[in-house]
Amino acid sequence: MQASKAKTTSVDAREAGQDEAIVYLNGEFLPLDQAKVPVLDRGFIFGDGIYEVVPAYSRRPFRWPEHLARLKRSLGKIKITNPYSDAEWLTLIESLIQRHPWSNQFIYLHITRGVAKRDHAFPKDCQPTVFAMSSALQAVPEALRSEGVAAITLDDQRWLHCDIKSISLLGNVLARQAAVDAHAAECIQFRDGQMTEGSSSNIWLVRGGEVIGAPVDHRILEGIRVGLIEALCKSCGIGFRTDAISRNEVFQADELLLSSATKEVLAITKVDGRAIGHGKPGPVYHKLYQAYQEAIAAN
Ligand code: PDD
Repeated sequence: MQASKAKTTSVDAREAGQDEAIVYLNGEFLPLDQAKVPVLDRGFIFGDGIYEVVPAYSRRPFRWPEHLARLKRSLGKIKITNPYSDAEWLTLIESLIQRHPWSNQFIYLHITRGVAKRDHAFPKDCQPTVFAMSSALQAVPEALRSEGVAAITLDDQRWLHCDIKSISLLGNVLARQAAVDAHAAECIQFRDGQMTEGSSSNIWLVRGGEVIGAPVDHRILEGIRVGLIEALCKSCGIGFRTDAISRNEVFQADELLLSSATKEVLAITKVDGRAIGHGKPGPVYHKLYQAYQEAIAAN
């Protein structure tokens, strides 16, 4: 390959915005641009692996037991033997946090089935590949907090195991790009006419002062914020339930919200160009956002 071509396609630590990045790969901490994975890694060949995104505030992981439990569930569902004990996972993420200067970070954990001759069936005696990195957790810009974000609606074209936090994210990638192409921040997906979730977030409808989410089953990822939103609703005296939600109900909602590790809870004020409710973040959003900040402070 020509040197010029190699140069334009390489993404080093600086281009990735991670000048100070030290990453973890299979037992070692090393600079991002020195971390290499063999091309026969099944994550690269088949997308055969799972991941987690864990926020940390004031250098302390937030909702870590819940993230670890989901990581173990995802590994179990695709039959990868968990390579580490709970204590080793915690040491790994704490060591990564310590190696970076930011007070608020998000830790990306990525486990694949490992390196083997290409064959769809599981290889025997394969060691999982474990990769982890930390990035600065950027606060959502104030303008988006005060105005909310736009979303589009889309048919959900993903597979039927969305409960697994799989690294095979092509469906999510295409959905997010459709949103970006429409100058929106997120998409709201529907399967058989029922709302599922965003490309990388859970979606919440507010109606009559109550928060309603999609049923937690194989059609959505059970976000760590699903349990958190339920707990925050309880502490704020806001009703909470899960139910089938139609496209019409989305457009007629009083408020719409999204939640994720990196966006916390955020108002969606426009869908397919139509204003939701009064077109501004509403009272339930404001209460939940405040309660979320209090949960972070108490972490
Ligand atoms: N995504 N649904 C999907 C498809 C997601 O990818 C995510 C999170 C969520 C929310 O889950 P949680 O509350 O645990 O962040 C729901 C992460 C942030 C990502 O892929 O970067």
